[in-house]
Amino acid sequence: MNRITQEHLNIISKAINDYAGIVLERIPQNRAKKKIINQMNCNNCKNVENYIELLLNYENNSSVMDDFVDEITISESCIFRNPKQFEYLKEVLFPSFFKNNKNNFPLRIWSAGCSHGEEAYSIAMLAKDFMKKNPESRFTINAGDINKNSLQIAKRGIYSSKSLQGKIDYFEELLGFSIGKHDGKGNCIVSDDIKEMVDFHWMNLKDINNLKIMQGTDIIFCRNVLIYFDEVLRKKLLETFFECLNPNGLLFIGECECFNIPEKTFAIVDNQGSYAYRKSESK
Ligand SMILES: C[S@@+](CC[C@H](N)C(=O)[O-])C[C@H]1O[C@@H](n2cnc3c(N)ncnc32)[C@H](O)[C@@H]1O
Repeated sequence: MNRITQEHLNIISKAINDYAGIVLERIPQNRAKKKIINQMNCNNCKNVENYIELLLNYENNSSVMDDFVDEITISESCIFRNPKQFEYLKEVLFPSFFKNNKNNFPLRIWSAGCSHGEEAYSIAMLAKDFMKKNPESRFTINAGDINKNSLQIAKRGIYSSKSLQGKIDYFEELLGFSIGKHDGKGNCIVSDDIKEMVDFHWMNLKDINNLKIMQGTDIIFCRNVLIYFDEVLRKKLLETFFECLNPNGLLFIGECECFNIPEKTFAIVDNQGSYAYRKSESK
């Protein structure tokens, strides 16, 4: 196996940036090289040139690119990750939306960069809970990701005890219903009625123009995704999220993320230490 040179890195970096907007340079070079070698092995490539050829030919074999996206992003997530944001959704946002919902619209939520689906199913579980108590309420939950492997996992809805933080009994007690079949060891298959509430689809956040179909959304979750992109794409995405959101719509980013979000577009909302960004009315 030959050495990975700066020239190889430049080609791979451009390929992944062109495809997904991901900045390879965010990863320390040694780690990036290890990840490339790992993918070369998985794809039985004898040398870097072979791997680059496969990668650049992704339109004919997108799983090579998907696997590389998977390798360099952290697709791991968990049910009710950043629980304060979900508490805010349940306690404040759902009740206030339906209180003011004179036209009986559904509450439209979009999980952008949904990975294995834990975020979208957490929303669906809360929505199911809300609908039980408020039968007139309706929800649409869209969840998109660039990674086809992750979407397959999401659609299957089978989670390990780790994805459920070992708290399945606690969640079920809190919600008051079963979230699926479990095996006594904390692993769970999400029940069909919760699965049916989420529409999973392939989506590349780099294709800004194609995101306009999400116009009319009330709440966007784009958590732990923007971190992979450069400033230019981040700015374009924030503008697009703004356009896609209904008046007063909300954007959630990851609790540990901190970006330059223009005040003219989004106003920060602090709900007991859980932050969200509300579409400003002034623009
Ligand atoms: C760390 S996971 C975030 C999962 C979830 N939002 C959460 O916070 O738990 C990042 C996800 O972003 C996805 N992603 C990266 N680039 C993307 C792009 N250009 N379009 C759509 N999804 C992308 C990755 O495939 C990965 O599933």
